[in-house]
Amino acid sequence: MNTIQPRVFSGVQPTGNLHLGNYLGAIKRFVALQDDHDCIYCVVDMHSITVQMVHEDLADQTREVTAAFLAAGIDPEKHIVFNQSRVPQHAELAWIFNCVARMGWLNRMTQFKEKAGKDRENASVGLFAYPTLMAADILAYRATHVPVGDDQKQHLELTRDIAQKFNNDFSDRIAELGVGVEMMVGEEKVNGFFPLTEPLIEGPAPRVMSLRDGTKKMSKSDPSDLSRINLTDDADTIAKKIRKAKTDPAPLPSEVEGLKERPEAENLVTIFAALAETSRSAVISDFGGRQFSDFKPALAELAVEKLAPIAAEMRRISGDRAYVDGILKRGGERAEAEAEQVMKVARKIIGLLRD
Ligand code: TYM
Repeated sequence: MNTIQPRVFSGVQPTGNLHLGNYLGAIKRFVALQDDHDCIYCVVDMHSITVQMVHEDLADQTREVTAAFLAAGIDPEKHIVFNQSRVPQHAELAWIFNCVARMGWLNRMTQFKEKAGKDRENASVGLFAYPTLMAADILAYRATHVPVGDDQKQHLELTRDIAQKFNNDFSDRIAELGVGVEMMVGEEKVNGFFPLTEPLIEGPAPRVMSLRDGTKKMSKSDPSDLSRINLTDDADTIAKKIRKAKTDPAPLPSEVEGLKERPEAENLVTIFAALAETSRSAVISDFGGRQFSDFKPALAELAVEKLAPIAAEMRRISGDRAYVDGILKRGGERAEAEAEQVMKVARKIIGLLRD
């Protein structure tokens, strides 16, 4: 264990419809990373019970996110695809991290503040501690790279803080057991057990905005379905949502800089560029100066062309429940074997008595 292999980990919650933000900010990038990385992709079902404990359709939604992974092109043979609750090491390590993380760190998490709203006293302890479970998801595999959308940035900083504090608090034990690896913390070389994970918040669309309000993130919890394109929307629905997307009255600018202060225009151009796998300036050089009445049909056509095959494949895969369940079961066994190797060492470092 004296090296840390580069490894990618990421997770998606099985709550509500997957939308274009999840696809462009995360899943599409998971697919791209497979070619030259060892990847673990997880449907994080235990995260989904932090806000709402009873989900009649939790199992089906877990299958649906799995189907989306597979339909988008994730290979469950070369890489690992599983659902979180199958691997108890996540919860075990999360408990340890609850004892590493400080209340003050978690109190700063903006996502908790947003999700708990005004009635903080009534939020679940699980919602408050959510980021320590997320750190455990990643570090149970000593993952080095985590592709996510921009909204997860603060959680990944916390993951690094937890790894760093653990490495620091247990530095003597880590050295004594000879289980550390050298890593740089700022300018300093230290010997640590958990890597300081790199967030991969990149690609053309790390933050896809609502179609109804370009200053708000596209989100599964927005009450208006017109605000997002769901991965399961049919062609007519996609076209209608783009037609109805909020815009300003001016034509598209002739330079990318002209998108500043025009959040809705910027969002639609960004979505076009991400779907077409091109740059925003290439989109502007084709559509600059033209009206939204020209641009929107082209965007709708592109979105249907790219998303309809994924939706069809998702439907096909979801129809074969035994196949999906088999993937998750096998993935869970492989993931558990990996996580247990890390946990064995983590327990020793802490001094928890196990054979
Ligand atoms: P979740 O399920 O809310 O979202 C899944 C992924 O989609 C990204 N995303 C977006 N990207 C761009 N634009 C948007 N509008 C948009 N909305 C969502 C998210 O950033 C995420 O990458 N806490 C995580 C799940 C998680 C996780 C992990 C991720 C649990 N453990 C470990 C990475 C590593 C979440 O709730 O994502």
